[in-house]
Amino acid sequence: MPRILITSALPYINGIKHLGNLAGSMLPADVYARFKRGQGHEVLYICATDEHGTPAELAAAAAGQDVQTYCDEQHEVQKAAGEAFGLSYDWFGRSSRAPNRRLTEHFAKALEANGLIEERVDRMVYSIDDARFLPDRYVEGTCPHCGHVGARGDQCDNCGRLLDPTDLIAPYSAVSGSTNLEVRDTRHLYLLQTKIEDRIRAWIESKTDWQTLAKSIALKHLDEGLIDRGITRDLKWGVPVVGDDGGPRPGMEGKVFYVWFDAPIEYIGATEEWAQANDGNWESWWRLDRGADDVRYVQFMGKDNVAFHTVSFPATILGSGEPWKTVDTLKAFNWLNWYGGKFSTSQKRGVFMDQALEILPADYWRWHLTAYGPEGSDAAFTWEQFQSTTNKDLADVLGNFVNRIVKFAESKFEGVVPDGGEPGPLEAKLEADVAAGIAEATAAFEAMEFRKACVALRAVWVLGNEYLQEAAPWTAYKTDVERSAVGVRTGLNLVALFARLAAPVMPFTAPTIAATVGESDLSWPTAGEGLLDRLPRGQKVASAEVLFKKIEDAQVAEWSERFGGAD
Ligand code: MF3
Ligand code: ZN
Repeated sequence: MPRILITSALPYINGIKHLGNLAGSMLPADVYARFKRGQGHEVLYICATDEHGTPAELAAAAAGQDVQTYCDEQHEVQKAAGEAFGLSYDWFGRSSRAPNRRLTEHFAKALEANGLIEERVDRMVYSIDDARFLPDRYVEGTCPHCGHVGARGDQCDNCGRLLDPTDLIAPYSAVSGSTNLEVRDTRHLYLLQTKIEDRIRAWIESKTDWQTLAKSIALKHLDEGLIDRGITRDLKWGVPVVGDDGGPRPGMEGKVFYVWFDAPIEYIGATEEWAQANDGNWESWWRLDRGADDVRYVQFMGKDNVAFHTVSFPATILGSGEPWKTVDTLKAFNWLNWYGGKFSTSQKRGVFMDQALEILPADYWRWHLTAYGPEGSDAAFTWEQFQSTTNKDLADVLGNFVNRIVKFAESKFEGVVPDGGEPGPLEAKLEADVAAGIAEATAAFEAMEFRKACVALRAVWVLGNEYLQEAAPWTAYKTDVERSAVGVRTGLNLVALFARLAAPVMPFTAPTIAATVGESDLSWPTAGEGLLDRLPRGQKVASAEVLFKKIEDAQVAEWSERFGGAD
């Protein structure tokens, strides 16, 4: 059994994440991690906050805090939100910690030793009043093409043209508004991606089993031709660029690595943090020369991150010439939209992880965002759809089944798994249908096709309802108690099975469901375990509180009012 290494794109430190971020990386990664653990695999699920770069600096400034304090606080906030959502990270690290700094320096040195790093002098906009160089998008002004006021230095939002900050008419600093700007020379390190383009392409082409979304984005970037990429920035907050003596690299004092250079390295750094805290061996997960060849590495991310993970990070890893583990399967997601518009952190549009849990328990969200997530295409979140899927899938189909059969066992069979009676053709057919459903769900989870997996799960729950409809133990009870006992026993076994099937997606409710029939096993089921007659006869059962509450129209109205629509 291979060991499974899982990473989800590292969330930026600048504020709590919205449901779009959750649905497109962390949640499916968690569902997959739980599925694989349930099958008995050794799993290491790693995530971290991505803490460097201008966005962190600006968010800290906006919060009136120094960057370190801001990041310390926000890391804890995101960690707590992840736990509250049941994200079962083995480690949730920080890209600002020592292992990532050390590894980032290490990779830069290795790349340089291989002739893949070059110093170049750029001309960049410097803001005298802010005492800093401004990244392109922090220079704003009037678009020379369309006259749009407030165009960003990298692109005009109005006419869509790509810009150079020096093209802007009447430029000013987006940080302070100051117009006191000049263009200055500044020295930077460049990663010579052009020199390893062929190796990256060969590596991508070897990934024959990748989904189209990930592979096509990667190939599009390669087809457009790679460019050598500046991997340092004039910023204070980040991994400092050091020289051979460990002090600042001469000529590059006060510079740090670009956030997209150090962030993916934190996948490795965070594994080292995990190892330090758990007496683990991080190299056995990441180094092919230290035992990582039985590791299967899966990455989860939104589609905007794919180029960085298929081109930039591989350039770092492959360019080092060292035997690092690279990703085996990259699972990319489309966008979750908010009423046709976009979720937006900066504009606070949409529902954020902490707010979601103020409204409803995590499993309601987890089910909806997994079963109706932005997988094959973009998906739109609406309260109405959330209401409908919760009420149908969870309350009517799953919750109702569990309550109905357990309550009946309580009222007519003394609250135990009844003995007596022999299964007949109805049970044999059910067993075959259920086995087929499990096989389908298993194959879909293996393929990381989460919507499909949820369709299969729901179909198995529906089989249970149909069975009860036909077996009708409540009717049989009046004339044939043995027949009724078979129906109830089979139904209770289905409850235990449903809990196991629900566990990867709904980790909070699954144990509650299992407990109604006196069970705690939540491992992933395989067909042929005698799934419908496993519970010890006489084992106590006890109904739970309502497992899933229906969402009322009044709640939809209230939440629509509170969170607003697209505008
Ligand atoms: N912080 C980035 C984002 O949210 C993702 C970084 S993924 C990493 O888009 F691997 F580079 F860390
Ligand atoms: Zn324009």
